[in-house]
Amino acid sequence: MKPSVRPASGRSKPSVPPRWRKEVESILITDAQLEKRILQMSREIQADFTGREMVVVSLLNGTVMFLADLIRSLSLPLRLDFIGVSSYGAGTESGDLVFTKELRLDVRGRDVLLVDDILDTGRTLSRVHAKIKALKPRRIKTCVLLNKSARRVEDVEADYVGFEIPDYFVVGYGLDFAERFRNLPFVAVLHPHVYKEGIKKLK
Ligand code: PRP
Repeated sequence: MKPSVRPASGRSKPSVPPRWRKEVESILITDAQLEKRILQMSREIQADFTGREMVVVSLLNGTVMFLADLIRSLSLPLRLDFIGVSSYGAGTESGDLVFTKELRLDVRGRDVLLVDDILDTGRTLSRVHAKIKALKPRRIKTCVLLNKSARRVEDVEADYVGFEIPDYFVVGYGLDFAERFRNLPFVAVLHPHVYKEGIKKLK
C-alpha cells in the first residue's frame, strides 16, 4: 500500500520548528512517517531480491538521506554506486539533464536497484533507466521515495514508491530548492514566496 499524503490541518498538523518558519509553510511527511514507510519499503525490496548480490545505483544529490536510511534496513548483499544527474538548475522547473558522475561498477548480468528521491516529470528516471538498460543488467527495479504523478510527461512508473504526493514544491530529507533545505529531517512544503522571489533572498 502506497500512502498518499496531503498537508495535515487542525490539531494533527505537525508544527514547523521555529528556525524554519519563515521559509517552510508546512510539514508534509514527518520524520516518524518517513522512518516507518522506509522500513516497509526495505521489506518489500528484500522479499523481491533474495540470494543474489545486487547493485544499488543511487542518483545524486537528492537521494542522500533516503538512500542512507533505506540501505541500512536492507539485510542483503549489495554493492553501491552513484550516477550524478541534475535537471533543475536553480529554479523549480525540470530542464535538460546534465550528467555529473557516471556509473563505475559493472552491472552487466546483475540485479540493479535504481534509487531516486522523487519521480516528477519522469525525465530523469526514464533517461537513467535507458542508460542502465543499455549496460545489459539481468533486471532493473526502480525505487523512489516520492511520486508526484500530476506532473508526469514521460510514461514511467517506479516499482517501489514511498509516498504519493500532490503537486507542491517539496524540500527536505535530501530534496532541495537552489541547493538549500536538503538537511531538513522531514519533507516540507515551501512558502510560495521563497521560490517566487527566487534565490536572491536566500543568499
Ligand atoms: C531532481 C530529483 C530527481 C529529478 C526528478 O533532481 O532528485 O532526480 O529531479 O525530476 P523529473 O522526474 O522531472 O526528472 P535534481 O535535478 O533537482 O538534482 P538533485 O538530485 O541534485 O537535487
